Amino acid sequence: MRYFAMLLIGLFTGSLGAVAAMSALKSDVPYNDAIMVVMKHQMGAMHGMHESGKCDATEANHRIALLGAAASDVDAAFLPVGDDAKFKELSGKLRQAIATAQATPRGDCAALKKTMGDIGQHCKACHDVFR
Ligand code: HEC
Repeated sequence: MRYFAMLLIGLFTGSLGAVAAMSALKSDVPYNDAIMVVMKHQMGAMHGMHESGKCDATEANHRIALLGAAASDVDAAFLPVGDDAKFKELSGKLRQAIATAQATPRGDCAALKKTMGDIGQHCKACHDVFR
């Protein structure tokens, strides 16, 4: 009897594990959302650097590079959206702002704040139209 109970418990916990594994596989984040979340994370990280007064240039460049990598795939992740020409224009402006930021040296928090503003306005510009 005890073995039978153990067997039942084993089967039960095993099937729970299988259900958990299957739902983990199914909860696939849509790629376009994933791209946006990566960009949001980098903007948030730079905001945090600014808040804490630690605006290390190497760290900021790392964040901006990741932002640029994600931004380079925005069109591929979203199109077609209807007005594709407008979308591409707005995503192009974001990429241009990131490229400018990559070419601009930043040594302090004031410069980082300006960079965030220069980039962030293009997030808003597209969200106002397409989100
Ligand atoms: C060219 C257009 C465009 C640009 C530029 C853009 N976004 Fe988005 N973003 C969208 C659209 C469209 C959605 C809505 C996606 C959806 O509903 O699935 C969105 C959604 C989001 C979301 C919500 C994602 C989710 O989990 O559903 C976040 C966060 C986000 N954007 C952050 C950013 C940040 C940060 C930037 C700038 C660095 C940015 N976006 C620039 C078009 C853009």
